[in-house]
Amino acid sequence: MKVIITGASKGIGRGIASYLAMDGHEVGLLARSEDLLEDLQQSIRDQNGESHAVSCDLRDPEATRTAVDWLVEQMGHCDGFINNAGLVIRKDIFDISMEEWHAMMDTNVNGLFYATKAILSHFQRQGRGHLINISSISGKLPLAGGSAYAASKHAVTGLSLSLFQECRDHNITVSTIYPGSVASQSPRHGEDTGESWKVAPEDVGRVCRDILSADPRTTISEVEIRPLGRPPKS
Ligand SMILES: NC(=O)c1ccc[n+]([C@@H]2O[C@H](COP(=O)([O-])OP(=O)(O)OC[C@H]3O[C@@H](n4cnc5c(N)ncnc54)[C@H](OP(=O)(O)O)[C@@H]3O)[C@@H](O)[C@H]2O)c1
Repeated sequence: MKVIITGASKGIGRGIASYLAMDGHEVGLLARSEDLLEDLQQSIRDQNGESHAVSCDLRDPEATRTAVDWLVEQMGHCDGFINNAGLVIRKDIFDISMEEWHAMMDTNVNGLFYATKAILSHFQRQGRGHLINISSISGKLPLAGGSAYAASKHAVTGLSLSLFQECRDHNITVSTIYPGSVASQSPRHGEDTGESWKVAPEDVGRVCRDILSADPRTTISEVEIRPLGRPPKS
């Protein structure tokens, strides 16, 4: 399959892209950091995988459409599109700034919406496609110490579950993944509990593979993936 992943330069997105590429899929990679995308492409090449990459800031709707169109053109068509890019700022209402609120909403909600509009025009033309949205457990439950992040992820969930209904008659599946703590290696505000107990990014990739390879008469519409263990006691 040919699959585009946003936020592929690091963390969960890199894990998804690496897993899918090693599973034999051709991957389209989108993020802002050109150097990190080049590094991932080299690693995929080293393992005889195939990839295409474009640098793009998802907060810009025109740039997003141009980047998505370019990737689809490079790949010939697109079977799956994974909205993974996101900004995680774990601060409570007393500490978070207006700028941080807007940056998170612009990335997690507006950016995801722009990318979705861009790929759905291709899926509509093709008459098929799989859209996978990475929400969060914080897109279902409250997150004390991360209220603004939770608000942005609840928006992703609401959009994604509604899109499932809007798209199914167009032969387009929409799936929502709710990860718990994933070892994305990216620095976060708040307590540092280490990474060893968390879900590996590649395991989110395995979930995406399973969604993409479901029987065409079936759709895996929602998946929660959490670590079995708990954070170490401090
Ligand atoms: N880690 C967790 O425990 C966890 C749990 C549940 C859900 N999630 C969700 O999983 C997704 C990935 O999280 P992560 O932990 O892997 O985060 P991360 O390590 O910080 O990676 C975020 C990715 O998004 C990209 N990105 C951010 N802003 C962007 C923008 N404006 N335009 C284009 N790309 C942008 C980044 O690339 P550039 O900086 O190169 O642009 C990077 O590739 C997010 O949606 C997050 O909410 C994470």
